[in-house]
Amino acid sequence: MTSTLELLKTRRSPRITDLREPGPSAGEIETLLTAAARVPDHGKLVPWRFLVMQGEKKKEIAAALVQIFRKSHPEATEDQLRKEPERFAGAPLVVAVVSKAGEHIKIPEWEQILSAGAACMNLVVAAHALGYGANWVTGWAAYERPALDLIGVKANERVAGFIHIGTPSAAQEERPRPALEDVVTYL
Ligand SMILES: Cc1cc2nc3c(=O)[nH]c(=O)nc-3n(C[C@H](O)[C@H](O)[C@H](O)COP(=O)(O)O)c2cc1C
Repeated sequence: MTSTLELLKTRRSPRITDLREPGPSAGEIETLLTAAARVPDHGKLVPWRFLVMQGEKKKEIAAALVQIFRKSHPEATEDQLRKEPERFAGAPLVVAVVSKAGEHIKIPEWEQILSAGAACMNLVVAAHALGYGANWVTGWAAYERPALDLIGVKANERVAGFIHIGTPSAAQEERPRPALEDVVTYL
């Protein structure tokens, strides 16, 4: 088993188009969601929720999103139109992390948003810990109302991320990481 630190130091996001079957079982999905729901949350507001997409339902959503994209993006290039169906079709499991952050008497909205980000990251790390690959993406569907209506994201909510999870069909090469001296200041 990969230790937590080793995982955190080596984790790499596969391309979403490289994520294939098998995906997590029902029991593993429960584990992933349990990890995602166990994040720091100032004020215990639970300012997020999860939309789980898999199987036939995910196929339907993927197909409907392609139609929405065609309609609302008349400027799209042939290449974009060709690639669009791949967005939700590949990975066997996609979890939308929905932020419910809003004004609160004590807890700044920013902190509620950060908690949704933490939920995204817990999902990614937990998926890797189970031996799957996971990638946190947004894309147009996270921002455009017709797509949000399709998956049931309300007017006062936002998509923090679509976490695509599956078995990577290809290894992802390393990418440059920031040098610690560029991002760390010891005070
Ligand atoms: C909020 C958020 C949204 C992201 N959206 C996208 C996206 O739409 N497309 C994309 O290619 N990467 C996106 N990324 C970046 C990937 O999650 C990932 O970090 C990137 O592929 C680099 O891989 P790494 O996790 O191995 O560093 C997003 C990251 C964050 C935090």
